[in-house]
Order: sequence, then C-alpha cells, then structure tokens
Amino acid sequence: MTRPNHKSCWQDIPHQLGESGLTSDVDADVCVIGAGIAGLSTAYHLLREGRSVVVLDDGSVGGGQTQKTSAHLSSVLDDRFTELAMRRGEEACRLAAESHTAAISRIESIVRERSIWCDFSRVDGYLFNPPDKSWDNLDAELVAARKAGVEVERVPKAPFPAFDTGPCLRFTRQAQFQPLKYLNALATAIQKSGGRIVSQCHAESIKPGEVKRVVSPSGTEVRARSVVVATNIPVNDIFAIHLKQAAYLSYVVALRAPRNAVARALLWDTLDPYHYVRIEDRSSPAADECLLIVGGEDAKTGQHDDAEARYARLESWARIHFPQAQELKYRWSGQVMETLDGLAYIGRNPGDDPEIYVATGDSGMGLTHGTIAGMLITDLIVGRENPWTSLYDPSRKPVGGFTDFVKENLNVASQYAAWVTPGDVSSVDDIPPSQGAIVRRGLQKIAAYRDQSGLIHEYSAVCPHLGCIVQWNHGDCTFDCPCHGSRFNQHGEVISGPANVNLPPVKHS
Ligand SMILES: Cc1cc2nc3c(=O)[nH]c(=O)nc-3n(C[C@H](O)[C@H](O)[C@H](O)COP(=O)(O)OP(=O)(O)OC[C@H]3O[C@@H](n4cnc5c(N)ncnc54)[C@H](O)[C@@H]3O)c2cc1C
Ligand code: FES
Repeated sequence: MTRPNHKSCWQDIPHQLGESGLTSDVDADVCVIGAGIAGLSTAYHLLREGRSVVVLDDGSVGGGQTQKTSAHLSSVLDDRFTELAMRRGEEACRLAAESHTAAISRIESIVRERSIWCDFSRVDGYLFNPPDKSWDNLDAELVAARKAGVEVERVPKAPFPAFDTGPCLRFTRQAQFQPLKYLNALATAIQKSGGRIVSQCHAESIKPGEVKRVVSPSGTEVRARSVVVATNIPVNDIFAIHLKQAAYLSYVVALRAPRNAVARALLWDTLDPYHYVRIEDRSSPAADECLLIVGGEDAKTGQHDDAEARYARLESWARIHFPQAQELKYRWSGQVMETLDGLAYIGRNPGDDPEIYVATGDSGMGLTHGTIAGMLITDLIVGRENPWTSLYDPSRKPVGGFTDFVKENLNVASQYAAWVTPGDVSSVDDIPPSQGAIVRRGLQKIAAYRDQSGLIHEYSAVCPHLGCIVQWNHGDCTFDCPCHGSRFNQHGEVISGPANVNLPPVKHS
C-alpha cells in the first residue's frame, strides 16, 4: 500500500498565488497580514466598504491552517454552551451563537452572490455521548443551547445506519464546504475589487506610527493606517495574547466509503479530546464514493511525538463505528489555538495602537471565527458599532477561567526544564536520513536535521519567541515549540508564530 501523504483532502486543487513578492513600496488604507480565512474575509469586507487593501502572505492563499481544517461550519460551540454560560454568562452564549450563525449565513450569501462552486451545503450536526456517559450533560447542553437561541432537539440516534450513537442532540442548519475552493474564489473577488494579494512575502516587522509600515525582508514595505494581523497566531505580540491561549495539534484521517452508505451530517462526541466527523462528496461523477473524514486525538504542540499512534487510533475508531469505510486516503495534522473561554480573540490588539487588529484563538472553530473577524474588524475600522466587540475583545481578562490560566502557564513554565535535559540522541550520527532530533552539545541544544543525501543541518534549538527548547515532530518533520505553538520546518524556517524569525543556523563541527 502506498503510504498516504500528509496533504489534506482539500489540497488536491492548486492554491491561488496572487502577485509573487512585494517588489516596490505601496500605500493602502489597510494592510492585512495572512491570506487564510480570517485575512481574506477581512480584506473582502473592507473592499466592500471602499477601503484600499493589500494582503501579504509568506506562503500562498489558504496555505496555513485553513488547508488543514475538517471544514465543519458550525454554530455549536466546541467548548459547550454550558461551559461558556458558567464562565461568561447567558448573554455571552446568545451573542456567540448569534455570531457563528451569522458567519455561516455570510459565507452562504457570498457563495450565492459570487456563484462560488465550493460544495457549500447545509447539513445537520449531532452531538452524542460515549456509551458509558449519562445523559445529564447533554440535557444541560440542550437547555443552554436553546437559551442561547440555537435550534436544537433531542433525537433517539444520529442517522448513521451502522453506528448506534444512542440519544443525541440534533442541531439544524449547520454547513460544510471545500475551504480552498472558497478561499481561492474569495481571493479572485478581492483582486477584481481592486485589492492586492501578495504571496511569498514575509511580514518581518510592523513599524508603529500614524501611518504604519509593514516591512518585508527585502526592505520593501506597505504603508497603511490600519494593520490586521491575521496570521492565525499573532506575530506582533510577545506576551499579552500568548499567555491566554494554548497550541494543540489535531489529527485527521480520511477514508474512502461508498457514497450512500454514510449520511451527510456533522458529528461530534463529548470525549476530551473529542472526535469530529463529516462526509465529503468526491466530485468525480464516475466514482460512487465519498470521503469519511474523522478527526481528533488533539495533543499539546511540541509535547507529544507520537503522531503514528494517534493516526492509528483515529483510523481504528473510524472503522469500528463506520464498518463501510474502505482504504485510508489521506491523513494530516494541523494546529488549533485553545482560549480560556473557547471564544476567539478578535479586535484591537492589546497595546497602545488602536489601529492594529488581531484575529486568533480559533478554538477549533476558526472558519466561523475567521468569518466573524471579517465582519467585526471591518466594523471597527470603519467606525461602526458591532454587538460582538466586547465578546471577542483580545484584551479581555481570563474571567471564570483563572485556574485554567494558571494551569496552562505552569505547563509552559515546566517546558523550560528541557534546557538541562539530555538530547534525543547522543550524537548527530544517530539521526537517520530525512529525520531530525535535538542534540546536546555542551551547554547548547541543537536542532539537527539529516537530509536525504545524508548531510546534517544544524540550528539553535532555542525558540526565538521566549526561549523554550523546540522538539522534533516525526509526524510532520517539523521542530515544534512546546510553549506557545511556534513551528519551524526541517530547515529551521518559521512556519507558525508567535516566533517571526527562523531558528539561527549553527556551524556543524
Ligand atoms: C485539523 C483541524 C481541523 C479543524 N476543523 C475545523 C472545523 O471543522 N471548523 C472550523 O471552523 N475550524 C476548524 N479548524 C480551525 C480552522 O481551520 C482554522 O482556525 C482556520 O482555518 C485558521 O484560519 P486563519 O486565517 O486564522 O489562519 P491561517 O489559515 O493559518 O492563515 C494565516 C496565514 O498567515 C500567513 N502568515 C503567518 N505569518 C506570516 C508573516 N509573518 N508574514 C506573512 N504571512 C504570514 C500564513 O502563511 C497563513 O497563510 C480546524 C483546524 C485544524 C488544524
Ligand atoms: S512559542 Fe513561545 S517560546 Fe516558543
């Protein structure tokens, strides 16, 4: 059997690139950094308000976590309405439900207006308990969700013939789509409206001032009154937000299944970490098949190097509950940012400059949170009131989640112990081709990678964000920081913030 690669099932289509590199300075009303769903939704809405916009991305359109998603569009809070009610009250639940519902409707209306072929469809979502759990938690969730204004009912089981979920909650008017098709179309619409999308352009720094300067490594810059940092994890902030969210890797497997053997619906269980399931029709009319997409097995980034075991457990779970599943076609992982109350941080960046905005803390609902960012940040920039401003305020205190706040930060503090531990291997000679490891050399820790030809490449293993020691991830062949989610490829190049620079090379002795 050919080993499934680590591309997601959405990546069979090419990414839009836009212009390649920022070849000269440019002025705009707004510079958006990041061409994922948050950045492009914001650019799209700002252009509709007549603002000039330049989007910078150091990869391609949708090349970040948006291509790793499982693409449920849901107003059902991953962290539960009961939890949010406890932490922030019933009005917060109502506003959260309202905003996620509005985000799904906004995607639907953009899809209609622009005739976007991105397989958008409305589906029901089902929340069920594992067999040994009493109904009480779902009963409480039913009450809390209804109070929040969500359409939900109790049903005897989810509509999967061979899988007896037992009594569960059915949420109507959820949705699903193909995220890269949607983003590519959004990018085209942005360019047609006069917006510029510049790919392969790293935003190295944001220089403050009335007119801010977003500077690229070659020195060219975008000058703009407002800057939106939509890099999934902000790269402009050292502490404020990173102490209030934690980075997890989530794993997904996609298996071939006969088209009509599994219902088109979203499915979640209440385990922690929970399983999430959806069905993707394959577009080839000849193929009477679909993809059964099953995700879960979340674990803190940089703290577990056992991707194989996690994929195996997911596949086995999928085969037990969906015996119609056939061969494994795809498997991949990506990063989600968990906040203390399960809601994103969207709005003015904590700090002095009111014209710098952030969107982060997806909490597993980054497609709707990213779309909310598009609507909310646009309102803030054009000076219109928005009812969700304080709900998502990035400066909010860890209300009701103080114990979790302390726990998360003690976990981060404990990661600094890696400064004094031995390396993964005693010498780089022990690293096989196409693999990496952390090696101790005197007081130094080295992130070493042996390429296919046998050549060793060495970098400092000290994360440039706040100095934790990165860890090798065999699953993705990356060096991951266990503290706040920075990730680097095998050549030490930063692929995920908060770090915004590469691991410095070390001379191999
Ligand atoms: C396995 C998995 C399953 C998920 N399932 C769901 C789901 O079912 N439903 C849901 O709603 N959400 C889900 N999510 C979450 C959701 O997919 C993401 O939160 C969302 O796509 C993130 O969008 P974004 O625009 O914030 O970030 P990204 O898509 O990561 O975009 C950020 C962009 O910024 C660019 N960038 C970063 N730094 C710089 C820089 N310095 N200069 C220039 N460019 C930069 C990156 O290249 C990237 O393209 C899932 C996530 C994962 C990983
Ligand atoms: S991400 Fe914060 S220290 Fe590495």
